[in-house]
Amino acid sequence: MNSGRSIPGVYRAAGALTVNGYSEKWLRQGFPWVYPNEVTAGQARPGDVVRLVTAGGVVLGTALADDGWIAARRFRDDEGPLDAAFIRARVEAAWELRRGALPPDTTAWRLVNAENDDLPGIRIDVWGTQVVITLDAAALSPLLDPLADAVEAILSPRAILLAWRPDPREKERPTPPPRVLRGAPQAEERVTERGVAFLVRPGAGKDVGLFPDMRDNRAWLEPHWQGRTLLNLFAHTGAFSVSAAKQGAETVTVDLSQPYLDRAAANFAENGLPSGELLAEDSFKALDRFRRQGRRFDRVLLDPPGHSHSKDGTWSGEQDYGRLVSAALRVLPPGGWLIAASNLGSVTPHRFQGMLLAGARKAGRPLRMLHDGSQPLDFPAALQFPEGRFLKFVVCAA
Ligand SMILES: C[S@@+](CC[C@H](N)C(=O)[O-])C[C@H]1O[C@@H](n2cnc3c(N)ncnc32)[C@H](O)[C@@H]1O
Repeated sequence: MNSGRSIPGVYRAAGALTVNGYSEKWLRQGFPWVYPNEVTAGQARPGDVVRLVTAGGVVLGTALADDGWIAARRFRDDEGPLDAAFIRARVEAAWELRRGALPPDTTAWRLVNAENDDLPGIRIDVWGTQVVITLDAAALSPLLDPLADAVEAILSPRAILLAWRPDPREKERPTPPPRVLRGAPQAEERVTERGVAFLVRPGAGKDVGLFPDMRDNRAWLEPHWQGRTLLNLFAHTGAFSVSAAKQGAETVTVDLSQPYLDRAAANFAENGLPSGELLAEDSFKALDRFRRQGRRFDRVLLDPPGHSHSKDGTWSGEQDYGRLVSAALRVLPPGGWLIAASNLGSVTPHRFQGMLLAGARKAGRPLRMLHDGSQPLDFPAALQFPEGRFLKFVVCAA
């Protein structure tokens, strides 16, 4: 362990970036990003520690500079150092929020949720005995050692891995593959979510295989599965299907990707449950076929990605949601439940409800909201950071 050590070369601010009045207003409200067009003077290399100042020289905080679509990420609102003790204190504060507050028998959770835990651009996920630190940009790399030290001190994991978050705004920068920072990782790990087992691959980047941000929504649904049929569309590795089957539902699990469905089958098996129907197919095609066959389901769950391409067409979570809802309502009998999710940060909860309403109108089926869910406690959303509340999860009776 190296706690107490300063970060070589980045301990104190190397220089200053002067920001305009617009950025000053947002920084004073607690928003942690400065955009390139908001910097009026000063230069820094990615990863440099810089002071953020107004044109009049008033200090607005200490940040790490970057050269992408973000010019600087502010870590503190004073002139103090970004040293190991500071990083350790921030990670410990995040741990305090979660300690004793996670549901029982839950070993997949988030220790640090970036801007929402005052560590901009940094996510730390716990997958059983392994931990993954995910950075938004290489400019954050100077903080890796103190972050890993803090994680080691708090959790003593068997391995710490580093992953990078792909950002569609940084198209020209390829996303490097995940790598081992410390310890000896194992490729597959069995984790639990409120007692339900899932097999995850912590070192697989975006293919880890479980979305713990959905935990509370799966929990809300649990009492409502017994004796019901579920059509789970865009099902990925089947987490909702497994959770529903464990509570006595009969499941049909649809995803474009056969490898994800193979992992869903392994998740069912891990819980001693039969797999139900697993269909490698486009969700719209499956809906169309079920409608023509007259097949109906008590609950239809929609959790599409933001964007996708397949031989059957292109999907956009902003443009096509209404169309998806109206298609889903055609396989839902009166009284059935539509369960709709979106993780697009650009779609506000209000706008999402508008998209559901548009689909409901098109199908001529009024919807009544039963539950309006979002993220669990380990994915907090800072009010001064609107992007923090990204998850919409709405359950409606048709
Ligand atoms: C956001 S993930 C779903 C997460 C899942 N509900 C869970 O809780 O684990 C989106 C999934 O949609 C799948 N997918 C993308 N386009 C699709 C399409 N047109 N039809 C079916 N599945 C699709 C992807 O393969 C991916 O597994």
